Amino acid sequence: MNKLILCPSLMCADYRSLSEEISNLGRSGADILHIDVMDGSFVPNFACGPEVIKCVRSLTKMPMDVHLMINDPSKHIAMFAELGVDIIYIHPEADAQTPRTLAKIKDLSLSPGLAINPGTSIEAVKELLPLCSYVMAMTVNPGFAGQKFLEFTTNKVKELGKLSSVYGFTLCVDGAISREKITELFKAGVSGFVLGTSALFNKNRPYADIIREIRAENQAFAS
Ligand code: DX5
Ligand code: ZN
Repeated sequence: MNKLILCPSLMCADYRSLSEEISNLGRSGADILHIDVMDGSFVPNFACGPEVIKCVRSLTKMPMDVHLMINDPSKHIAMFAELGVDIIYIHPEADAQTPRTLAKIKDLSLSPGLAINPGTSIEAVKELLPLCSYVMAMTVNPGFAGQKFLEFTTNKVKELGKLSSVYGFTLCVDGAISREKITELFKAGVSGFVLGTSALFNKNRPYADIIREIRAENQAFAS
């Protein structure tokens, strides 16, 4: 039985009314605010600089993660830690010394997270799993919201679900996560779900209602 951890992706919010969006998300019953950071090099898109994150931090007490889709993340860990986030996800594909960077996050009393691209095998990251508090399997190619779920990632996610209890990390998934996918993967050992345009945003409904429904739909398997 897992805890169901729901993580709205700020990238999908309506930036025209960011402050209202954040207060609605804060009252929605969701668990962690997921903040995508992109450098236009590791992924072909840009998102969320430090100024925005500082502003978001000042508007909510919600736990926040940053998903660093940036090259050479080790250079910027201290800066993100300064911004008051709780979890820092790095991509091993973008970091030459991943164990050292994960240790740096931990030394700053933050939770180290590993975000794994769809094309990265478990074999390639197995040695890193014990160093992580969170492992996030990308179920789309990172960089954009609103994409299609990559079905070929399902077996890897289920495999990681088994390993999460062996190594003690919390397993999350990120990318095109629908409510059906939540139910399917929650049963397979996934705890954390990044909620973007598939499950939460652009539905013209209060976030709190959707979050309540997702919890009710998965109650039978939740601890
Ligand atoms: C994509 C980001 C995701 C994305 C999720 O690179 O990491 O967090 O915003 O949005 P959907 O659920 O629409 O794919
Ligand atoms: Zn993300």
